[in-house]
Amino acid sequence: MDKIIIEGGVPLQGEVHISGAKNAALPILVSALLTDGWCTYQNVPRLRDIDSILQLLSMLGAQIEVDGYTVRINAAGLKNAEAPYDLVRKMRASILVLCPLVARLKTAKVSLPGGCAIGARPINLHLKGLARLGADITLEHGYVLASAERLVGDEIYFETPTVTGTENLMMAAALAQGKTILKNAAREPEVVALADVLNQMGACIKGAGTAVVSIEGVPALKPVSVRIIPDRIETGTFMVAAALTQGDLLVRDCEPEHVGGIIDKLKQVGAAIQVGAKSIHVKGRAPIESVDVKTFPYPGFPTDMQAQFMVLMSVARGLSVISETVFENRFIHVSELRRMGADITVSGHSAVIKGVPSLSGAPVMATDLRASASLVLAGLVASGTTEVNRIYHLDRGYEAMETKFQKLGARIRREKSN
Ligand code: EPZ
Repeated sequence: MDKIIIEGGVPLQGEVHISGAKNAALPILVSALLTDGWCTYQNVPRLRDIDSILQLLSMLGAQIEVDGYTVRINAAGLKNAEAPYDLVRKMRASILVLCPLVARLKTAKVSLPGGCAIGARPINLHLKGLARLGADITLEHGYVLASAERLVGDEIYFETPTVTGTENLMMAAALAQGKTILKNAAREPEVVALADVLNQMGACIKGAGTAVVSIEGVPALKPVSVRIIPDRIETGTFMVAAALTQGDLLVRDCEPEHVGGIIDKLKQVGAAIQVGAKSIHVKGRAPIESVDVKTFPYPGFPTDMQAQFMVLMSVARGLSVISETVFENRFIHVSELRRMGADITVSGHSAVIKGVPSLSGAPVMATDLRASASLVLAGLVASGTTEVNRIYHLDRGYEAMETKFQKLGARIRREKSN
């Protein structure tokens, strides 16, 4: 397994290009299943998770063409309605094929994704919503079996906002008979991006980005050519890296509108921030002030930025409290940061961080995507050498992270496993 080696202590300088958003690309690529012509997607990030979803779509019978950052998909030949366990367990967002398969093929057999490092990750709200639209759903031998002659619009209330649940049911409702209302829907930019694509395909979706989304079903959807929005979590990760290393960084090709919560917190920390139309200039300044953070569904502070921000607080002046309200087990990075000298105490869903003058480099282990990003950030600012192992987690959601950091002056390299 590859690892990343970092010699810490270099303030980042220069410009970084933000790639397309993983969590927008995944549902948008799956939406190609809803039509039977060639769809073209530009600015698709080159990530392991994208490879996984394209492998699944191909197994279902779609034709796939990849040319750099452009992906073309034609689902006219869609014939297999089964998403197998060995693929779904590797990439839980595969559950997004469930509703499009029922909408297009009237049936679906999709493996239950199972939990992951950060939590149980149930899909009960996906299934409850699909059943509300008239699907027969049974669970057998670790699989969801769903079928419906034709889905019929209805009102769906989510007990808690679910990003992929909202996306899954938006796609089901787009081809259902009549009107569907999603209440307490997720408001993430990636949900809005999917709704925009579906509307360009001929869907009739209103209210995406708010808690109430209405979808008027249509008989068919047409192929589309679209561009994937920038990745707001990659944007936030580099912004935190600039503040952490007292660097001077221009984050380019991003969407400042999508990172308001992160900008607000970094200003409180003391970083100097200038926002442009599609760029954000971040200058880290000493001292790094301690700031409390609580994660919330969008537009709150994103849970996917919690681990990265904890690294910043671990070298801040004073005490800070970080509370994780979205996932039940998203402090796995704490034990590895402690090994680097961080002073963090976890109590339930909160972590109390006492800033220390500096972290010290160490060999550490990545456990999930955003935890691995936080360990790289810690290595950038730690004294000495940090070795981050199992960085296949990182490659799931960050495109060539070490190369981007190298271009900003960091002493970082990837060591291929033999
Ligand atoms: C999406 O996951 C993202 N993944 C996650 O990003 C992100 O952390 C998460 O949203 C929250 O923002 C993609 O978009 C591919 P949820 P998702 O359903 O949709 C509970 C990353 O690092 N819930 O919004 O799986 C659930 O347990 C990844 O890029 C149910 O109870 O998250 C959680 O507590 C990690 N029942 C809360 O809702 C359900 O049926 C939010 O989960 C569904 C969810």
